[in-house]
Amino acid sequence: MKTIKFGIIGCGLMGKEFASAVARWCHLADMPARPEIIAVCDTNSDAADWFAAALPSVTQVTSDYKAMLANDDVDAIYCAVPHNLHAKLYCDIIRAGKHLLGEKPFGIDLAANEEISACIADNPDVLVRCSSEFPFFPAVQRIGKLVEDRAFGQLLEVSSGFLHSSDLNFNKPINWKRMIDFNGEYGCMGDLGMHACHVPFRAGFKPLDVRAVLSNIVPARPDKDGNTVPCETWDNATLLCRAQDKTTGETFPWTFKTQRIAPGETNTWYVEIKGTQACVRFNTKNPRRLELLQYDGSGDQVWGQIDLGYEVAFKTITGGIFEFGFSDAILQMWASFVAELAGQEVTGFARCVTPKEAALSHRLFTAALASEKNGSTESV
Ligand SMILES: NC(=O)c1ccc[n+]([C@@H]2O[C@H](COP(=O)([O-])OP(=O)(O)OC[C@H]3O[C@@H](n4cnc5c(N)ncnc54)[C@H](O)[C@@H]3O)[C@@H](O)[C@H]2O)c1
Repeated sequence: MKTIKFGIIGCGLMGKEFASAVARWCHLADMPARPEIIAVCDTNSDAADWFAAALPSVTQVTSDYKAMLANDDVDAIYCAVPHNLHAKLYCDIIRAGKHLLGEKPFGIDLAANEEISACIADNPDVLVRCSSEFPFFPAVQRIGKLVEDRAFGQLLEVSSGFLHSSDLNFNKPINWKRMIDFNGEYGCMGDLGMHACHVPFRAGFKPLDVRAVLSNIVPARPDKDGNTVPCETWDNATLLCRAQDKTTGETFPWTFKTQRIAPGETNTWYVEIKGTQACVRFNTKNPRRLELLQYDGSGDQVWGQIDLGYEVAFKTITGGIFEFGFSDAILQMWASFVAELAGQEVTGFARCVTPKEAALSHRLFTAALASEKNGSTESV
């Protein structure tokens, strides 16, 4: 099996998730390649030390990402750093000829995202994808098949969202994700929005216009020293879009929600598609359950529940009857990226978010900011 040598820039929460996925690569069956993490970079040396201790394969530990870019042994990089650094680091990585799985939102704002897109266009031999793991849940893979089979009939309505309650405690100290300089004007849309866009975009549902209501519920928080400081990012976002199915040209409403202050929700990702012939619902609160209503024009309209086992895009050693969870979705996302790197054709809902999809999310969030500011409906 081919080995692809990786570096990680940004050894925080998400960097560790990648390390853990690599450590259990043997979980996957029939992969054309395996990743090996040989280099780690973080400006905080404590963060990088965890990797050096956990992964014997690491031979380079640095606080300067340019030292990693100069390492000829590194084939590909996972970059998981604050949003203000995306444009500079992603472009430097791509120009150095390293393949990149970048984190969302893929640039702090539209201008930063356009810089990244231009750099990708200038370096077509580099494979670039954006991280987003929830579509790898078995129920969502099944929804993807229904989309590809055009099982929904005429589309009536789509809803998708990602809800957290992590900020419900108003005394939680501020961190970079709540600061405009590091997280960006998009606030909770930049943080959580790519997750809510991934399935509708991959299904070919394009937002034409948007009316957004954005809420800054907690305008101040304590900092790490206990001083009260402004907390300026949007906490919650509700977007109502007129969306269009690219295949049929039909338009329908798409309601999109990203919320950091959603009581009772820990990490709730959901999608719902309603059509004249089929409707589906999935919510990570009940991670194995797909709800499905199929209607052929006669008889009762019955919502059914399918408890799916381990039905995945990339085969594993786990028996088909067992449950699937968050870290399994991360492993599947990495299987997708590594399979593409190894030259395998990865299509449909098995493929990671593309830079074009990330660019569309920026156009949507930028229009949503204008909509909130002007109280208007804005074209995307
Ligand atoms: N896919 C997901 O589910 C998911 C979940 C959380 C966060 N994210 C995204 O991942 C990215 C990182 O978020 P996180 O939660 O891991 O943040 P984090 O704060 O836990 O980690 C970021 C790390 O980057 C390091 N860093 C900062 N500047 C650096 C530099 N110049 N060079 C090298 N390292 C530097 C920090 O020291 C920190 O260790 C963000 O884009 C975020 O939106 C994705």
